[in-house]
Amino acid sequence: MEKKIDESIQGSALNTTNNAKNGRKLYIESYGCQMNFSDSEIVASILAKEGFNTTKELNEADLVLVNTCSIREKAEQTVRNRLVHFNALKKQNPNVKVGVLGCMAERLKSKFLEEEKIVDMVVGPDAYKDLPNLIQEIDEGRNAVNVILSKEETYGDVAPVRLNSNGVTAFVSITRGCDNMCTFCVVPFTRGRERSRDPQSILEEVNELWKKGFKEITLLGQNVDSYLWYGGGLKKDFEKATDMQKAIAVNFSGLLDMVAKAQPKLRIRFSTSNPQDMTLDVIETMAKHKNICNYIHLPVQSGSNRILKAMNRLHTREEYFELIANIRRILPDCAISQDMIAGFPTETEEDHQDTLSLMEYVKYDFGFMFAYSERPGTMAARKLEDDVPKDVKKRRLQEIIALQQEHSLLRTQQHLGKIEEVLIEGTSKKSDAHWMGRNSQNTVVVFPKAHYKVGDFVNVKINDCTSATLLGEAIDYSDNN
Ligand code: SAH
Ligand code: F3S
Repeated sequence: MEKKIDESIQGSALNTTNNAKNGRKLYIESYGCQMNFSDSEIVASILAKEGFNTTKELNEADLVLVNTCSIREKAEQTVRNRLVHFNALKKQNPNVKVGVLGCMAERLKSKFLEEEKIVDMVVGPDAYKDLPNLIQEIDEGRNAVNVILSKEETYGDVAPVRLNSNGVTAFVSITRGCDNMCTFCVVPFTRGRERSRDPQSILEEVNELWKKGFKEITLLGQNVDSYLWYGGGLKKDFEKATDMQKAIAVNFSGLLDMVAKAQPKLRIRFSTSNPQDMTLDVIETMAKHKNICNYIHLPVQSGSNRILKAMNRLHTREEYFELIANIRRILPDCAISQDMIAGFPTETEEDHQDTLSLMEYVKYDFGFMFAYSERPGTMAARKLEDDVPKDVKKRRLQEIIALQQEHSLLRTQQHLGKIEEVLIEGTSKKSDAHWMGRNSQNTVVVFPKAHYKVGDFVNVKINDCTSATLLGEAIDYSDNN
């Protein structure tokens, strides 16, 4: 997941300029997955209509919202630490209100108000349209809570306010919730059952982004391969749909095809894919369209069949290899990345070796690797003892990370000498004289600025690399109009 933010270390203050009717200022901070960052743009849009002007300055804020993540314990701790900071702010200015959004809000519900006395409002991921009412409640001096999960809400009718945008890349959410019930994962509890967004509203958003000058979009969902639109409703109720509904159904490859055709010059990415749901037609659709990027984020979590089963990942190591082989056959230049969990309950040294050998087989381009963190309420927490000692988890994680680094370098080296199309996203963090962009495979490319500008597609000759970055020089200008 290219821009996945490690919720334990990063938050981001978001900013936009709206005409304030009520003159109040909203400061919103987001943690966790891309979906949360995308949701904050929906929240900003809903509150802009209420006259809230978004600010980057915490000190100016009348309303402070924190969009939270529950995926690991550390992510929750990060948010609690931020709340201490907001408390200090409230002491200076008692009129400031603090709201908690997202997965922690959903997980802890009104318990949050008891645990964190400074919080005025708790709003779950499906309740953002209720924000105007909830804000009225807190304005009148009452605490406000709405954590009702929905069967239908996709926010398809809310045009997100692009926050902190580079004007080039944007997220477009296509599904909400997850039905997979991986035993370690809190998401099905915090984000509810899986539902898909109307393809027409997705296309409208995509077309609008193109009109505004965006050059790349990422279709977002917990499990995009599971996308299924049949006129609304939960994925699990598809069986009960009418013949008519079934006839108009659109699956993920169908949606990809529609989006790619609608804007043939727009780069298209998607995240996250799930091995058990990714079908060949998705890979074939990727091969059919030049504008769909050659990159698949394909979390596997473990290389051991026994652990995959205990995790309720509904595929085997062998089936995963088969999928990888199909990707390599149909899309030889496709980059693949992973998510891995070290130290799931009962994981033995042999299971861990299976993970390392799976990595050796695939040689991922990059990865996101975590030590197992027990989440209250999940099946793993209820049925399995968190029995891998901390130091063992840590050592296994380090081994996984070290191996990934080797493979990442091997992969970046394969780009040396090639000429690759790069979309410029902004100035390199390390040098004002260089641009930073990405190639189709999602690898970061840095090169001297010359006369190019943000949003240009540029052909770059790759001359050098680290394990994470390609370095090159622009050799040509390909017009992107
Ligand atoms: N389908 C989702 C997955 C969300 S969670 C997506 O869109 O990315 C992201 C990653 O966090 C998972 O793939 C998994 O590797 C990791 N993760 C989830 N629960 C975890 C836990 N309890 N402990 C450690 N890592 C976890
Ligand atoms: Fe979590 Fe598994 Fe869904 S990791 S988000 S339950 S696919």
